[in-house]
Amino acid sequence: MNSKETPHLLINLLFLLFLHQISCSSPAFLLPKQALPTRSGYLPVNSTTGSAIFYTFYEAQTPTSPLSQTPLLIWLQGGPGCSSMIGNFLELGPWRVNFSHTQNVEHLGLEPNSGSWNRIFGLLFVDNPIGTGFSFAATEEEIPRDQFSVAEHLFIAISGFLESDPLFKTRPVYFTGESYAGKYVPAIGYYTLKKNLNLPESKRVNLQGVAIGNGLTDPETQITTHAVNAYFSGLINERQKSEIEKAQWEAVKLVRTGNWSEATNARNGVFNLLQNMTGLATLYDYTKRIPYQTSLVTTLLQIEEVKKALGAKESIVFDECSDVVGDALHEDVMKSVKYMVEFLVKNSKVLLYQGFFDLKDGFRRVNEELAGYVQKWGGLSHAVVLGAGHFVPTDQSLRSQAMIENWVIEKGVFGNDLEQPLSDNFTGSI
Ligand SMILES: *[C@@H]1O[C@H](CO)[C@@H](O)[C@H](O)[C@H]1NC(C)=O
Ligand SMILES: *[C@@H]1O[C@H](CO)[C@@H](O)[C@H](O)[C@H]1NC(C)=O
Ligand SMILES: *[C@@H]1O[C@H](CO)[C@@H](O)[C@H](O)[C@H]1NC(C)=O
Ligand SMILES: *[C@@H]1O[C@H](CO)[C@@H](O)[C@H](O)[C@H]1NC(C)=O
Ligand SMILES: *[C@@H]1O[C@H](CO)[C@@H](O)[C@H](O)[C@H]1NC(C)=O
Repeated sequence: MNSKETPHLLINLLFLLFLHQISCSSPAFLLPKQALPTRSGYLPVNSTTGSAIFYTFYEAQTPTSPLSQTPLLIWLQGGPGCSSMIGNFLELGPWRVNFSHTQNVEHLGLEPNSGSWNRIFGLLFVDNPIGTGFSFAATEEEIPRDQFSVAEHLFIAISGFLESDPLFKTRPVYFTGESYAGKYVPAIGYYTLKKNLNLPESKRVNLQGVAIGNGLTDPETQITTHAVNAYFSGLINERQKSEIEKAQWEAVKLVRTGNWSEATNARNGVFNLLQNMTGLATLYDYTKRIPYQTSLVTTLLQIEEVKKALGAKESIVFDECSDVVGDALHEDVMKSVKYMVEFLVKNSKVLLYQGFFDLKDGFRRVNEELAGYVQKWGGLSHAVVLGAGHFVPTDQSLRSQAMIENWVIEKGVFGNDLEQPLSDNFTGSI
């Protein structure tokens, strides 16, 4: 399997060269007017320090209800420390970055995404926590180091957004996100439900549910699944399986003794082993998932005209993932937020969805017939999206759109309690 590494490396290198040329030629690139967000800019999290969260908001394209009742999806990226502009411009936003190479000249462009999640819902992308993407952290000390602080900042920012327009206040809110946002989404959901109890009606956030894609939520459980998943996917042999199982067990032991920093290192060790054994680039760390071309987003957002058009601070150089934020949350990585998800299942609704091909984060179990099924237990739904990896909306934009729409408005396979096979786009009731 190691032989796969060489072509991967080569392709990656060539790709990076292309990007290098693009950024060197520094194109005068303007965001097409129709691709501009409905609004964008900063939401303060602390008026004393000036730290603020960057956002872009896209109103629903063809809402099916008055705007005051049109659901609002709020998207958080993973990492920790990766920008939601990856979600915006590479996954589920209305315009996705594209790239072509003609006559020795490299071009960057944008193309409309027919699978965008703002077809019938408002869609808000948030660079969370401060220090991520275009979000501004006045000091490093202010960057959250645990999920409670993440939620505290997010709640202030989102309340600010909802108060900025009387039409927003009443809209049903859904927190969504993927990967490490499997921590953030439960954290802000849980915080919101608890906080609402002590707030006057006018200050509450009308939270209706949370959706998590390929999330890291209960690390101690999830870390134990990688060896069997890779083994039963035919990627590693029995000896390699034992080796990874040993590494997984080390990580679990460190979690159980509360040695959080080492536990995170041990988790990274498990992925390094898997990476070495399989040669699959997509298992690797977030910034290096070249097949998803996240660096195109970086190239786009480092262009001065684009930054200006989005209202981003000119002093911030966009980076798709922030190491400073990654370090701040290093000890948080292996801590579970499972109890928050359980609370959300009881008091709102929860969707866990997953790309079938993703080996890194998931709730996939061996020998379970999951292909093309939605399963529901009360407030909890679990969807597996066929033909998708870690970035489900990138790989299957129409399916992901149908999934989120049907889950929010509770129709199709999400409309009753029976387990049903999925139609091509989740809308059918077979
Ligand atoms: C805002 O920053 C000040 C100064 O660092 C701090 O004392 C205060 O607790 C912060 N407020 C919030 C809500 O984080
Ligand atoms: C991006 O996609 C659009 C729409 O398909 C197309 O018109 C444009 O030429 C593409 N741009 C690049 C640079 O590939
Ligand atoms: C954490 O784990 C490392 C590696 O196993 C060990 O060297 C260290 O002593 C542990 N620290 C604590 C506080 O248990
Ligand atoms: C992965 O392979 C490289 C090169 O063979 C080696 O240097 C490195 O130690 C390996 N890493 C792990 C975690 O096995
Ligand atoms: C879903 O698929 C069916 C049949 O393939 C098609 O007729 C329908 O228009 C699709 N719906 C959406 C919302 O894409």
